[in-house]
Amino acid sequence: MLRTLFVTTALPYANGSFHIGHIMEYIQADIWVRNLRMAGHTVHFVGADDTHGAPVMLKAESEGLTPQQLVARYAAERPTYLNGFNIEFDFWHSTDSPENVELSQDIYRGLRDAGLIETRQVEQFFDPVKGMFLPDRYIKGECPKCHARDQYGDACEVCSAVYAPTDLIEPYSSLTGAKPVMKSSEHFFFKLSDPRCVSFLQKWTTGKNCHGAPRLQAEVLAKTREWLGDGQSEANLGDWDISRDAPYFGIEIPDAPGKYFYVWLDAPVGYLASLKAYCQARGLDYDAITDPEGETEQVHFIGKDIVYFHALFWPATLKFSGRKTPDQLNVHGFITVSGEKMSKSRGTGISPLRYLELGLNPEWLRYYIAAKLNSRVEDIDFNPDDFVARVNSDLIGKYVNIASRAANFISKHFNGQLHYAGDRAVLEDNWRTIAQGVANDIESREYGRAIREIMGQADQINQAFDAAQPWVLAKSMADASDEQREALQDICSCAIAGFKALSVMLTPILPALTDRVAHELFGLHRSFVWADAAVLPDHIAPFKHLMQRVDAVLLSQLFDAPEALEATAAPKGSADSSQASSEGQAVDLPGGEAIAPTITIDDFAKIDLRIAKIVACERVEGSKKLLRLTLDVGEPNMRQVFSGIQSAYQPEDLVGKHTVMVANLAPRKMKFGMSEGMVLAAGHADEKANPGIYVLEPMPGAVPGMRVR
Ligand code: 2FM
Ligand code: ZN
Repeated sequence: MLRTLFVTTALPYANGSFHIGHIMEYIQADIWVRNLRMAGHTVHFVGADDTHGAPVMLKAESEGLTPQQLVARYAAERPTYLNGFNIEFDFWHSTDSPENVELSQDIYRGLRDAGLIETRQVEQFFDPVKGMFLPDRYIKGECPKCHARDQYGDACEVCSAVYAPTDLIEPYSSLTGAKPVMKSSEHFFFKLSDPRCVSFLQKWTTGKNCHGAPRLQAEVLAKTREWLGDGQSEANLGDWDISRDAPYFGIEIPDAPGKYFYVWLDAPVGYLASLKAYCQARGLDYDAITDPEGETEQVHFIGKDIVYFHALFWPATLKFSGRKTPDQLNVHGFITVSGEKMSKSRGTGISPLRYLELGLNPEWLRYYIAAKLNSRVEDIDFNPDDFVARVNSDLIGKYVNIASRAANFISKHFNGQLHYAGDRAVLEDNWRTIAQGVANDIESREYGRAIREIMGQADQINQAFDAAQPWVLAKSMADASDEQREALQDICSCAIAGFKALSVMLTPILPALTDRVAHELFGLHRSFVWADAAVLPDHIAPFKHLMQRVDAVLLSQLFDAPEALEATAAPKGSADSSQASSEGQAVDLPGGEAIAPTITIDDFAKIDLRIAKIVACERVEGSKKLLRLTLDVGEPNMRQVFSGIQSAYQPEDLVGKHTVMVANLAPRKMKFGMSEGMVLAAGHADEKANPGIYVLEPMPGAVPGMRVR
């Protein structure tokens, strides 16, 4: 029976570019969707930007943009990534859209009418300077346990203690530096603890989809048992605070002036908003697709960190506003790079954009990620050596190798014609069965298993080809018997039929490569579908180069240079530098070094120099060289910069002074924390012979934030 599905991936926050974690999820979902479409099913596959919330609002403000402008900036770069990695969403929308406003407000009204919304007074930290309530991440202070300074409001990065922002010693707002005050305000709650919700969620989480498969993976179900109770233990569900006070970039709560939906209320509604806008654009029936009694399957691909929202809040908000609930959650783990954990906001050390800019083949990454994925909630690791070995050995050494060897004999001796000595039906059945197994593996998200099966088949084809030694037969073709000619043609034809079937099986994973195989080698004017696996080809065009091997040197350029344990802002040759110029050589040069090569005014304009006020300065425990500077650059947030100037200044001598900083230098992670810029200082190249570091100070009158040109 042909199916209709509505498939989404988690909506990315619109305050940053895609990182490799996003791309992994999109590749996983894209492979799954392609697999279904190849079987003739209809899939509506949509995404959107998750635009609302304090981080987007504050980031936009710090850049002098409206939130909409910031959102538009990230929206504009999404296609480069998606097209670059052959990820084919049908539609990409935004939670800051009329559809989302209408749907979110409707859903809220539904919940309110069902008696599941109530208001309560909530006491929270408030920044009196900024005039806003502070989310935990914008409150900092001294850890109550280990007394490390400048720790976030929810957990200590030094001792890993978890606490409430009110536990912090000397808390301050990281937006303004002000001491926050406690303030009370009315908040709206969705009553998740209501027995109706608990009972529905107990059924929904343990339920099956329309194919009889569990709606949730075993690990995910186990997690929901912790929250919902398991029959033995009580449910442990708190009501959900769904409102935020102005100023907030979000959707207004109906009949509640100055109150906005917390971003997590309207974010998943963005799935429906995107579907709705897509239906409008394509003339599809949105109501039919989202009909609770309808046949469409609703499937969400998400990461393990947002299960709580998708397995509790989302189905409950849908259910009690009278809507269709999801049929399946497909939850994946994180991607690490060489074992290193990814940061949600900064991603990992590898940038998907850099991957594309280096000209690395996007399908290598699709293949590698697919080879590592299974249906469990496990983290996967991107390891460069493994990447090179797998792609080169599997795709080039096994798969492409079949066609390059067999097609040459067919072109040279048989004018591209294939002929099978054995029973065609037997061959066809064989490939049909194998392809069906692979399609099933992909449907159940056992991509690694699918690839092992495909490469196992490639091994068998290569072994059979080698055992038949076609090159021996081909040597004497001029005076070969009909039997010899037939034997050579059959060996090569069987290998090519296998190559074609494997190409079909690889199509969800390598759509661009297999499109070339379909068009250029087999003359098809469309992409492969599953049924093609069992159609034996009768002709093959002369072999064309299909795929490059991975160049390990090129791949290595994808990785950031190893991070220095102690980066320094001091000039070359200063106390921190290990590169003091060699003695005697540079003495006649100005400052001990030659003037650097000429640059254009455009090159210079790329460096954003700003006046900064040093509002705090302290020695860094464990470092003889660094000072930690807190700089006011005229933005809402202070900047932290580490500078290798301890040998030259007492911290208290710098506090209150103005200086010049590079404000658009990429932040660097150092042993002691993030360094968010660089302070300018002068010094001689040969610091040993000419000691001294001199921090730049502007003439009186310059104020923080002024640009230096
Ligand atoms: O965790 C995140 O990145 C969220 N922006 C995901 C939202 S998914 C959906 F609910 F919109
Ligand atoms: Zn601590």
